[in-house]
Amino acid sequence: MPPSLRASLHQNPLDITPAEFRRLGHAVVDDLADFLDALPHRQVTSGASPDAVRAALGGDRLPEHGADPGDLLREATRLLVKDSLFNGHPRFLGFITSSASPTGALADLVAAAINPNVGGYVLSPVATEIEAQAIRWVAELLGCPPSWGGLFVSGGNMANFVAFLAARRAKAPWDVRALGLRGGDRQLVAYASKETHTWFQKAADLFGLGLEAIRWIAVDDQQRMDVSELERQIAADRQAGAFPFLVAGTAGTVSTGAVDPLREIASVCRTHDLWFHVDGAYGAPAAALPEAPDDLKALALADSVAVDPHKWLYAPIEAGCILVRDPQHLMDAFSFHPEYYHFAEMEGEQPRNYYEYGPQNSRGFRALKVWLGLRQAGRAGHTRLIREDIALARQLYDEVRTTAELEALTHNLSITTFRYVPPDGPASGSESQEYLNELNAAILERLQAEGEVFVSNALIDGAFVLRACVVNFRTTRSDIEAIPGIVVRVGREVTASLSARRAAG
Ligand SMILES: Cc1ncc(COP(=O)(O)O)c(C=O)c1O
Repeated sequence: MPPSLRASLHQNPLDITPAEFRRLGHAVVDDLADFLDALPHRQVTSGASPDAVRAALGGDRLPEHGADPGDLLREATRLLVKDSLFNGHPRFLGFITSSASPTGALADLVAAAINPNVGGYVLSPVATEIEAQAIRWVAELLGCPPSWGGLFVSGGNMANFVAFLAARRAKAPWDVRALGLRGGDRQLVAYASKETHTWFQKAADLFGLGLEAIRWIAVDDQQRMDVSELERQIAADRQAGAFPFLVAGTAGTVSTGAVDPLREIASVCRTHDLWFHVDGAYGAPAAALPEAPDDLKALALADSVAVDPHKWLYAPIEAGCILVRDPQHLMDAFSFHPEYYHFAEMEGEQPRNYYEYGPQNSRGFRALKVWLGLRQAGRAGHTRLIREDIALARQLYDEVRTTAELEALTHNLSITTFRYVPPDGPASGSESQEYLNELNAAILERLQAEGEVFVSNALIDGAFVLRACVVNFRTTRSDIEAIPGIVVRVGREVTASLSARRAAG
């Protein structure tokens, strides 16, 4: 077909010719390569206000007519580079979002360009098999047998929700699918430590159990679930006529990275016939290390494990994953057979249709970036990166411990918590705690706005602390060395302005 005819066939408001695609794609990749090149020399964030960002965006009204896609792509990249928080920056240590593999970004481009719908096999033959293989590899990396199954979802909340729903269906003593929660006269109850991420409240609320179905189990002085308290609570609930169905342990809590005593929790679940779920959204990949503690490796005793490739397998957002010991439980919870899906029988093993394994119907090809990442770095590459992150968090803990005016609180996995303590603050008691909390909250705000280093916060036994989480293959030892000095400098400035404010009134 002559190029001119081919071009005219593409005269529609959205399509572009393959030649244009090539030209625009090269320009985008060039701009992004420049961005990656300059990344370590930028601030972590511009800290711009919503008003300023909105003003930069301009154009409040829906455009009536189209514009040149090359200009638009260039403008979008410029806007994003100007006013984003760069979680791939070497000094981004806030929250739990990893630096993203550049190959993963290209994988997302490939996935979007081919655009398989990984809801049904006929819609995505090779993508479906790539997802199945990636799921087996993630399970294997974590030490779970290849007979486990699962699927990719958007992130940790969704992965945990899928497990919660599978557990509810499997363990409720009546047919939840047919009768809903009104089918039984016993309240279903679920257990998790007080340090559990808010996915747990959302699940109890959204899936009809109500927040009163939650039993918050106390933690010990290392923020790990108190298993004797768990057992006492299960016995009390049974006695009171409730129906315990699920315990969620955490492998790497969101605040301090604590790992619950998973082996002991597994044993309690076996004894009481409860579904044992592990929220390993953050910490599960560390189970791949030969030197991982036994409690972490015990996640392989669970009925289900949530793990986020966009947290500690360095995949670009979004990539969450739920693994289950028995994939039939996902089918029991999620499979329906609408008449509008007529799929022919195939030779050999019957195809897997992922819409039957989870809540989504149409599904994107998140698996590609995870699969490519696992192939690019292999087990050895991933264990090396995870081990380095843990060592950097340990380095920070040690540096903080030897820095006057800083107090180190915890180090678990790749999370370190600490706070600024001025030499001449209130000496003791609740007044001191209140003062330090106010001071450290103000220090955090300053650090986050200025973007020299980006940390977040945690609350540990009433103490507001700064929290650094290293899930970042760009962070170096010298980035870590710089942190105590930055925090002390900002701490002194904030202390001085707080004192001036207090003196003034
Ligand atoms: C332990 C834990 N569980 C669940 C989540 C929620 O994950 P997502 O933000 O991907 O939904 C997080 C997020 O940090 C987490 O740390």
